[in-house]
Amino acid sequence: MSTRRRPLVRVLIGVLVGMLVLGVGLAGGAWALTRPTDTVGAVNFTRPLAVPPLAPSRLDDRGRRVFDLVAQEGSRDFHGDGRATATAGFDGGFLGPTLRAKRGEQVQVNVVNRLSEDTNVHWHGMHLPARMDGGPHQLVRPGATWSPTWRVSQPAATLWYHPHPHGATEEQVYRGLAGMFILDDDREAALPLPRTYGVDDVPVIVQDRSFSGSGKFDKTRNAFAGIGVLGDTLLVNGTIGPYLDVRTERVRLRLLNASTARTYDFGFSDDRPFALIGTDGGLLDRTARLTRVRLSPGERAEVVVDVRPAERVILRSTPPDLGIGGLSRRSAGGADRFDVLQLRAADTLTPAPPAPDDLVPTDRLDPGSAVTTRRMEFKGRGINGRSVQMDRIDFAVTRGATEVWEVVNSDGTPHNFHVHDVQFQLVSVAGAAPPPELAGWKDTVFLPPHRPMRIVLRFADHSDPNLPYMYHCHLLWHEDSGMMGQFVVVDPGQAPGRPPTHSGHGDHD
Ligand code: C2O
Ligand code: CU
Ligand code: CU
Repeated sequence: MSTRRRPLVRVLIGVLVGMLVLGVGLAGGAWALTRPTDTVGAVNFTRPLAVPPLAPSRLDDRGRRVFDLVAQEGSRDFHGDGRATATAGFDGGFLGPTLRAKRGEQVQVNVVNRLSEDTNVHWHGMHLPARMDGGPHQLVRPGATWSPTWRVSQPAATLWYHPHPHGATEEQVYRGLAGMFILDDDREAALPLPRTYGVDDVPVIVQDRSFSGSGKFDKTRNAFAGIGVLGDTLLVNGTIGPYLDVRTERVRLRLLNASTARTYDFGFSDDRPFALIGTDGGLLDRTARLTRVRLSPGERAEVVVDVRPAERVILRSTPPDLGIGGLSRRSAGGADRFDVLQLRAADTLTPAPPAPDDLVPTDRLDPGSAVTTRRMEFKGRGINGRSVQMDRIDFAVTRGATEVWEVVNSDGTPHNFHVHDVQFQLVSVAGAAPPPELAGWKDTVFLPPHRPMRIVLRFADHSDPNLPYMYHCHLLWHEDSGMMGQFVVVDPGQAPGRPPTHSGHGDHD
C-alpha cells in the first residue's frame, strides 16, 4: 500500500510546493508592483509655479457679476521637452481661471461647451438651488451654453469647480477640467491675513498624473488599484517641479486636492508648524497650529506658513494615514511621498503679522435638534447596497430641517464622503470629538475604513422636489462607478417628485 501511495504523496507535495511558490511569487509581484512612489529629493524645482489668472467678470444691468467659462480641448507640453499631452481646460488648455465673488453678490456663469462631448460644471462647496448646481442632471451639450445664476450666501471660502457628467467625471477632471472659486466676505477681510492673490495668497491645486513615453496622460490602472488611478508625477496648478518666490514673511496657501483618487498628507520638509486657518467651507473658529494636514480628493485647506529670509523650504506630502495596512495601504498610495512645491524666500521679506488665534466664530449646528438620523454605508461600488440611478431619488429632506447623517466606510479600501448644497459639521469621528482640522465647515471628509463619522447638516432653503443634489465618494472612479446617491429638498409637507428623464441643456437653453 505504502509503495503505491508514494507517487500520490509526491504529486501532492509537488502541488503544494508549486502553490506556495506561486503564492509567494504573486504576493511578491503585487508587493513589487505596488512599490511606493517616492519623489522626495528627486524633484527639480525649475519652473515658476503657474498661478491661475483671476477670471474677468462684468456687472450686468441687473447688477449681477457675470463670468464666461469655455470648456475646451487643448494640449500642453508639461515637461518642456516637446512632448505634447492632450488636455482640456476652461478658457485655456489645462485647468481654468480662478472665479472670485463676494458674499451677497448675485453671480452668473455662462458655461460654453466647446468639447466634443457632454459636460457640465459643478460648483463644489457652493450653497445654491439644485438646478444651478451643475450635477449630472444639468448636462451641457457640445456647442451649447448653460448660464446658472445664484446669490452667494455663505462665508468666505476656497471652493472649486469641475465637470460632473455621470460616468465621465474622472476622465474629464483628469484631462484638466477644474478650477478654484474663491468667496470673500467682510469678516475675512477684517482679519490680518495675507490676501494679495498670486503674491502672498496663492492657489495650490495638486493633482497626480502619469505620463506615457510619448508624453500622453497615462491612465492605465494597476491591477491592485481598487481606488482608481494613482500617478507618479505631481502637477501643481499644472506645473511640474514648481517653485514659488516668496517676498513676504508669511504666505497663505489655498491647498486643493483636485486629484481623482490620491490622498495627501501635506506638511513642510523641516516639519515646521503652520497655521491652519480654514477648511472646505471657510475659516475656522480658531487657528490650529499643525505640522500636517491630510486632504482626500476634493478637500481644501487654507494654511499660513512663516518663511525666513533667503531660505528654501519644500511643501511635501508624507505617507497619509489611510486607516489600513499592508498591501491595501500600498496600493492605495498610503506609502507614497512627494515633494510638491518649493518656497524660495527673498533675501529681504516684507513684514507680515502672524495669523491671529481667533478667526471667525462658527455657528454651531445642534445635532440635538436633528429631526432625522440617516445611516450611509459605503461599500463596494454603492451606498447602502445601491448604485446611483439617475431616475431614483434616494430620500427627501425637508427645507428648514437639521439632520444627522452617520457615514461609514465598511470596505477595506479608502473612500470619502461629499455632499452637494450644504456645508456640514462633524459631530464625532468613531465616537470621539473631531480634531481641529475637521472641526470647521466641511463638504468633503475622508472615510477611513470602519470609523463612522457623524455629521450634522442644515438645509435652510432652496427646495425643489424634482431636481436632486448628489452625495457621493469623491474618489472619482468610485463616483463614476455608482458610489453616489441623490436627495431632494422639499417644502414641508411636499412629496418628492421625479428627476426629469432627459435633463440636458441644448442650443436653445
Ligand atoms: Cu466635487 Cu459631486 O463633486
Ligand atoms: Cu460638490
Ligand atoms: Cu470611494
